[in-house]
Amino acid sequence: MDHILSEKIKNKEAKVGVVGLGYVGLPLAVELANSGFNVFGIDICEEKINMLKSKKSYVIDINSEVIEELIDKKLSVGSDFTIVSNLDIVIICVPTPLNEAKEPDLSYIVDSVKEIRRYLKKRTLIILESTTYPGTTEELIINSIEEEKSFKIGKDFFVCYSPERVDPGNKKFNITNTPKVIGGATKTCLELGILLYSSFVEKIVPVSCIKVAEMVKLFENTFRSINIALVNELTQTLERIGINIWEVIDAASTKPFGFFTFYPGPGIGGHCIPLDPIYLSWKAKKSNYYNRFIELASDINSNMPRYVVSQVTDILNNLGKCIRESNILLVGVAYKKDIDDLRESPAIEIFNLLEEKGASVSYYDTYISYFTNNGKVVYSIELTEEILNEFDLVIITTNHSNIDYEFILSNSEIVYDTRNVTSKYSSDKSILLGRHINSYTH
Ligand SMILES: NC(=O)c1ccc[n+]([C@@H]2O[C@H](COP(=O)([O-])OP(=O)(O)OC[C@H]3O[C@@H](n4cnc5c(N)ncnc54)[C@H](O)[C@@H]3O)[C@@H](O)[C@H]2O)c1
Repeated sequence: MDHILSEKIKNKEAKVGVVGLGYVGLPLAVELANSGFNVFGIDICEEKINMLKSKKSYVIDINSEVIEELIDKKLSVGSDFTIVSNLDIVIICVPTPLNEAKEPDLSYIVDSVKEIRRYLKKRTLIILESTTYPGTTEELIINSIEEEKSFKIGKDFFVCYSPERVDPGNKKFNITNTPKVIGGATKTCLELGILLYSSFVEKIVPVSCIKVAEMVKLFENTFRSINIALVNELTQTLERIGINIWEVIDAASTKPFGFFTFYPGPGIGGHCIPLDPIYLSWKAKKSNYYNRFIELASDINSNMPRYVVSQVTDILNNLGKCIRESNILLVGVAYKKDIDDLRESPAIEIFNLLEEKGASVSYYDTYISYFTNNGKVVYSIELTEEILNEFDLVIITTNHSNIDYEFILSNSEIVYDTRNVTSKYSSDKSILLGRHINSYTH
């Protein structure tokens, strides 16, 4: 154990930097500051830095009052990496998207590590939290610092990988009560990482090495992607057989062992489930292994918006209408309930597919008042009786908890519900995702 750094961590005297203040980095910086550390948040996005400096939060799980309490006291923010020379710990939370060829884009990690390396002093602990394929931390952080600075890992600097498992919008599980998996490059690295996280996380799960920690996160999200794909495929199968998938899932979920509940939907979104499995399959391909499960799940999930549109075509057809010139309202454009994140949202794809087919599309979202779509700013409509009456079809694409679905049902001509939020009202105006449309009598 490095006694100087470990004492600093124990006494909360270690200065901690968080690089990348987004959905992951900002809550982490807040948690560290709340637990007593002096935290320095670094982000290249001037707009975010300015918002934080004016005491405003842009992350849904963090209230502006929290920022107001911490800013310029326990939490300082800026875009300048020179601060790294003053830090004892640097935690990296930058994006790991896919590039146009649908391959891992590690440029954000590379860029931030380049800056960190430039100002890095000896005895600093670096932790990567961004999701990535096994081997990244070693290749892009450890090797690059050893080569460029002639520092020795475990002696001159310390490195861990600890995947962020935060679920934005989740009211029950947060950073402190979600077990934290961590792998270290050496025994000392791991011990330091455990010491840091155990000061604000209830349960730490150490693993034998960094690659295992990197793989844990990919496994978790691949597991979700594949299971969601299974129910999405079953939804389409059961539509043909004429069985209600939602009822099947509810009944199957009563089994107290050996079954995990996943629901179908209009597709998957966000920065994790659609992307993380691709990081794994890309890495596997490098070793000449082809993950058929991952590719198949990705294929099924990414085709769900098209399935939704095909059901919409059938619904309108039954009403003697077609998509062209229909007035369609999407309720919810965020990729999942109770958050304001539009990244990879299937609702946006449905929006565009319907517009391409000539529909006039509007949306309503209690979390997103406007967004830019194909260079055009689109605003959420007001939800009134008169406005609802104007639509030929309402599609529920995201199941935010603060929406009055009963009001929507009673004032709409017909509602296509891809999230099963309307069945409890037993209205004949509601059609669930996966229902066999031709058997529908309106
Ligand atoms: N969003 C989630 O639910 C979630 C959950 C678990 C893990 N993750 C992973 O965490 C990582 C971050 O995701 P996120 O959702 O917080 O992304 P985000 O886009 O919300 O935030 C990333 C931040 O990093 C900043 N940034 C980019 N390059 C930078 C650089 N060179 N230096 C400093 N700042 C830089 C961006 O400006 C942005 O503010 C990703 O790897 C993601 O897969 C995300």
